[in-house]
Amino acid sequence: MLVRLIYASRAAEALGADALSGLMKSSRDHNASAGVTGVLVYTDGIFLQLLEGGRNAVNALYNRITQDARHHDVVLLSYDEVAERRFSGWAMGQANLSRLNPGILLKYSERAVLDPYALSGKATLALFEELVATAVIACPG
Ligand SMILES: Cc1cc2nc3c(=O)[nH]c(=O)nc-3n(C[C@H](O)[C@H](O)[C@H](O)COP(=O)(O)O)c2cc1C
Repeated sequence: MLVRLIYASRAAEALGADALSGLMKSSRDHNASAGVTGVLVYTDGIFLQLLEGGRNAVNALYNRITQDARHHDVVLLSYDEVAERRFSGWAMGQANLSRLNPGILLKYSERAVLDPYALSGKATLALFEELVATAVIACPG
């Protein structure tokens, strides 16, 4: 039983490169052992994260993430049972939006800035798929 969950949140304070890479590293280590895969976008103080994996593992992780003091305004954008993963290649990939063609954001949003609070869950998933298709997701060690 696989599920895919997408949420958005606001960083409690601007995250430096070191804090972000520390978060990514511990997430990847934990996710690999829990069988969770996904992608995290961080830009302009906003997090957008897609998690997929077993229902219990994803639910437990999401509950933990919502308690994390590093962010607030956590909003669940989409939660679905899925037949297969679409982001199985990343224990937690990191999307670099500075490399994203603004046209991709404009395709799904009113302006060429990421505002997941104004996007439907469907549009958010489509945006993640474009990130994968245009290879702007990195998995730095
Ligand atoms: C935006 C954001 C995304 C996170 N993503 C993950 C993740 O994918 N996997 C993970 O294990 N922890 C993630 N965390 C960290 C968790 O909130 C939590 O600190 C971590 O799982 C350790 O939990 P524990 O202290 O209860 O063991 C994330 C935190 C934030 C703020």
